[in-house]
Amino acid sequence: MDISPKLAIVTGGASGIGLATTRAFVKAGIKTIIIGRNQDKLQLATDELGELCVYKIYDLTNIAGIPDLVSELVREHGVPDILVNNAGINMKKSFIEVTDQDFQDIIQINLMSVFSLSREVVKRMLEKGQGSIVNISSMAAQYGIPQVIAYTAAKSAIEGVTRAMATELSPGGIRVNCVAPGFIATEMSAAALEDDPGRKNKVLSRTPMGKLGDPDDVAAAILYLASDAAKFVTGVVLRVDGGNAIGF
Ligand code: NAI
Repeated sequence: MDISPKLAIVTGGASGIGLATTRAFVKAGIKTIIIGRNQDKLQLATDELGELCVYKIYDLTNIAGIPDLVSELVREHGVPDILVNNAGINMKKSFIEVTDQDFQDIIQINLMSVFSLSREVVKRMLEKGQGSIVNISSMAAQYGIPQVIAYTAAKSAIEGVTRAMATELSPGGIRVNCVAPGFIATEMSAAALEDDPGRKNKVLSRTPMGKLGDPDDVAAAILYLASDAAKFVTGVVLRVDGGNAIGF
């Protein structure tokens, strides 16, 4: 009988939605490896969450190093049962001002690293015959939002990739789902909304629940999709948005 705790990787797990997810996982007894770039933030998270949370400093834009990163994590901690591809960045800029390099930078972290990390983790999950992956999309993939062209491209691709992976990997016992957060109170949304009252009013006025979401709201959905409670759920995009995507 295997009584070892489940093992998860959460990218960007030291802040915002990733940190809330890590808290929820640890509370559920899931050992969680958080990956990020800022040692101080990673250390704060592990200090708060105790021995079920460990961190790895890594810049996921370094795609070439991801196979070695995963080998090292597997050697140290075992094969993960859960991967949450949460790390991401946004860039608000008018369409004609976005450079090719800007576009590529957003795609690199929000899409390429998700593919590469997932591929390496999936190789190990297939050997185990089980696994659950949760990707993070956005309202930018549900309807048109101005000034976020590269982010929209990346997040729209994430939803397609989720379906393709779910289809191909299901026979191997791996489920792949996606959470599409609405506007959630984190550093990322503050950067996009706080200096732009018009945009913030627009967001709130088309959100039937009339407020920004809390990172814990998204974490609860990620925990559900990652867990065995969702054992017959794969390929879905679960919106956690206070109704924003269907608001008038
Ligand atoms: P956040 O900025 O608080 O967290 C993002 C995390 O990703 C940070 O911990 C950051 O260090 C990490 N990260 C970024 N680039 C990285 C890199 N190159 N290597 C390693 N780690 C890196 O933002 P938030 O809001 O918690 O975002 C989490 C996810 O949720 C992102 O994928 C974002 O696109 C998505 N999202 C957020 C929404 C919001 O309203 N806050 C709405 C829709 C989607």
